[in-house]
Amino acid sequence: MSADDNPWWANAVVYEVYPRSFADSDDDGIGDLGGVTRRLPYLAELGVHAIWLTPFYPSPLADGGYDVSDYRDVDPRLGTLDDFDSLVGAAKGHDIRVIVDLVPNHCSAEHPLFKKALAAAPGSPERDMFIFREGRGTRGGLPPNNWPSNFGGPAWTRVADGQWYLHLYDSGQPDWNWRNPQVRAMFEDVIRFWLDRGVAGLRIDVAHGIYKDPELADTPATDRSVRPSGYYHRPEIHELYRTWRAILDSYPSDVFPGERTAVGEVWYDSYATLQPYLAPDGLPQVFNFELVTAKWDAAGIRKAIDATLALAGGSRAPWVIGNHDVVRPVTRWGRAAARAAALLLFALPGSAYLYQGEELGLPEVLDIPAAARQDPTFRRTGGKVRGRDGCRVPLPWSSGGDSFGFSRTISGSSPAPPWLPQPADWGAYSVATERADPDSFLRLYLSALRLRPSGKVGGHRRCRRLWQAAKPAAEAANSASRQARRRAARGKAGAASGRRRSGNDMPAQAWPAVETRLRLQCRLPL
Ligand code: NOJ
Repeated sequence: MSADDNPWWANAVVYEVYPRSFADSDDDGIGDLGGVTRRLPYLAELGVHAIWLTPFYPSPLADGGYDVSDYRDVDPRLGTLDDFDSLVGAAKGHDIRVIVDLVPNHCSAEHPLFKKALAAAPGSPERDMFIFREGRGTRGGLPPNNWPSNFGGPAWTRVADGQWYLHLYDSGQPDWNWRNPQVRAMFEDVIRFWLDRGVAGLRIDVAHGIYKDPELADTPATDRSVRPSGYYHRPEIHELYRTWRAILDSYPSDVFPGERTAVGEVWYDSYATLQPYLAPDGLPQVFNFELVTAKWDAAGIRKAIDATLALAGGSRAPWVIGNHDVVRPVTRWGRAAARAAALLLFALPGSAYLYQGEELGLPEVLDIPAAARQDPTFRRTGGKVRGRDGCRVPLPWSSGGDSFGFSRTISGSSPAPPWLPQPADWGAYSVATERADPDSFLRLYLSALRLRPSGKVGGHRRCRRLWQAAKPAAEAANSASRQARRRAARGKAGAASGRRRSGNDMPAQAWPAVETRLRLQCRLPL
């Protein structure tokens, strides 16, 4: 426990690392674990308490690594288990903990157990590890039910012998059958495997999925809703989380990394749906996505915050304004609002997660050519849904040079191009450029994070000051952007200019006044 008797994670700032896009240590254009280790001093300077690594496991990359073919190893393109151990050790040297991503809803179609299931006969124990069924219609030519894949198209794919298998995501991501005790046992081993290697916690992918209606009945709505259904928010899930909590709690809390946590990725339609996940003996934490889904509207944001606090408090339900799945805050809300949102994020009581590049104010890259796009949603919707590549573009570290410092050049070599193309003006957002600019996003983040108390949750007077300060800033930014919209409607506003401004941005001249007020209230340097 920390000095105030809260576990370390209760007030932690956690930095989400998307390893393939963070830093490349071997000039192949793909970020890797060595790159994360090399950039730890930067993360330490930011002052984060932990990093969450999105999947780095062996994967054919049908979904950016969320299609895992071996849960107990590192993809050779990203390093080795030794590199992982070195990263955990080096992070500890900076007092930074490591959280890994657990992907229990599905694996990769290349997972050896799925390959075995495909090779085995219908009705075999091998097939029972997954969800195989006969189809409907003439000669079973139609999927077993009407469930949609989250990435477009049906959630079922037919195999050579005529059976279908379930995949709530890409066809390369078959869903496990959680009613099979072997699946459960296997994941308990996986959890222990990573905890034994010194990780501080797990981020649980699709934590609202996992169990499916045993009848596989049709769902009334074929939209992408996150309401309770045959495939989301099944009540059985809570018993599973109680067992995982017991595993986490069985690790000693009096030595680094302290109490182990798990944070569930639970998308929900209402607080009533979210509530059961917050049972005292359930997962320690569940994301609240209120600030991700909120429009930039002070009244709405305040309502969402008040409701979340009434339900849980930000320690159990950490705050987040972006991640590798959603359009970056700067593009969603505008730059001014994204700055106010960052202060709000760090001012709210409890734990905050920030996604790599948020601290640089990176915009969503909207013009990635179709041929370079990697997100399966783009392919599965015939390009109708742009997908999430735009928030995954490799980070700029330097103002110029090959891949803006993303890849380390080894003894004069020319690195391979980054796996997703970077925009020509990326250098303006780089760590080096922003470090030198007192008005940059990075400098704002550095100041705000330094102001955050490391001990008590909420209550602390600095935190309260930030919180108080963020409210008027949010209101002012909101009213300024309303005015801008009104002016635009009257045809008086100039056309939106350049990548640094988005349609709903507040006028550039309005922000300095808001920010000065905010900085004064927060005692940030002017
Ligand atoms: C949520 C992850 O954040 C996302 O990137 C992934 O595509 C889906 N789960 C499926 O694993």
